[in-house]
Amino acid sequence: MIRSTIAGIGMYVPENVVTNQHLEKYMDTNDAWIQERTGIQERRYAKRTGETTTTMGIEAAKIAIERAGITAQDIDFIVFATLSPDYYFPGCGVLVQRAMKMKEIGALDVRNQCSGFVYALSVGDQFVRSGMYKNVLVIGSEKHSFGLDFSTRGRNVSVIFGDGAGAVVLQPTQKENQGILSTHLHSDGESAEILAMYNPGTHANHWLENSLADFEEAELGEMFMSHAMIDKAQNFPFMDGPSVFKKAVVKFPEVIKEALKANNLKPSDIDMLIPHQANLRIAQFVQQQLGLADDKVFNNIQKYGNTTAASIPIALCEAWQEGKIKEGDLVCLAAFGSGFTWGSALLRW
Ligand code: UT7
Repeated sequence: MIRSTIAGIGMYVPENVVTNQHLEKYMDTNDAWIQERTGIQERRYAKRTGETTTTMGIEAAKIAIERAGITAQDIDFIVFATLSPDYYFPGCGVLVQRAMKMKEIGALDVRNQCSGFVYALSVGDQFVRSGMYKNVLVIGSEKHSFGLDFSTRGRNVSVIFGDGAGAVVLQPTQKENQGILSTHLHSDGESAEILAMYNPGTHANHWLENSLADFEEAELGEMFMSHAMIDKAQNFPFMDGPSVFKKAVVKFPEVIKEALKANNLKPSDIDMLIPHQANLRIAQFVQQQLGLADDKVFNNIQKYGNTTAASIPIALCEAWQEGKIKEGDLVCLAAFGSGFTWGSALLRW
């Protein structure tokens, strides 16, 4: 039986460390609030110019490719997960293909926000399992710092997010005790608007109360992005944090248990859980629900904040680099976020 396995993994975080104290200069917030509610102490922000979601993804990809023992020209397919692309279109995947001088391979962008990496990994896994591709590059990368509201108005969102990238190379394996055992993907669009960035977009208030710009009055050419939207700060992400939190603490354990059940395993079989780094309190709640010891759950939100599609590959890479994941270990990845979308992956390292 062919499975896909992570043959190489890499991560990249920008040099620029931004502490909670630094954010106090921009908005009414404080280190105690941020640490108590989220666990975050600092995050990284990319350089304003010369560093993009794609370039960070490439830095992570170079390491993953080298560790897989191949070259960029060996990659057969790219899956790039992000909510902060370099361009509205085309996606980041083609920019990776161009910059890394790859062959004219397929490049797919995934827009599943916090669960983007789990979705992207699942897509890559299917291509490898089916025998269609031998080297699939999966990237999760975000440059959040470019699109956040750094005034007090946006503080519930802006203090949480950070920049960075992670990447893996998937290859086929026939080893009994290695590779991705299964992936489990879900969505519930009922609450699509409670963690979202509405503009720019083509919704014209179709899904929303009349709280946004008046599209009836807008001139052709002013509908996609207008001065009014910017004046009303409608070009920034919106989040009803407590509602997201309540759903996350239900769906994380649920989807992890689903993965375990599908493989006739139980929580105590998990050697390392890598939860999407949304909030340390969510991860601690999930840990407690599953009865896992401290050394079975890896968290680095303290250093990097929430890097959305990049958070799982960054955490997985760091855990492995620190020697916390060894060959044959049962590793569980799990994510929940905007959409809502959520998912899990269970793999033998
Ligand atoms: O990764 C994608 C998925 N996202 C998540 O999973 C996030 C889930 N949600 C959360 O992590 C939490 O809801 C937050 C960390 C976003 C917020 O924590 P909370 O404990 O739910 O706080 P809250 O939103 O209920 O706000 C409590 C208070 C409010 O003030 P009042 O109304 O009680 O006076 C906020 O205005 O804290 C205030 N507040 C802040 N104060 C200082 C909100 N943001 C800040 C801030 N600094 N940055």
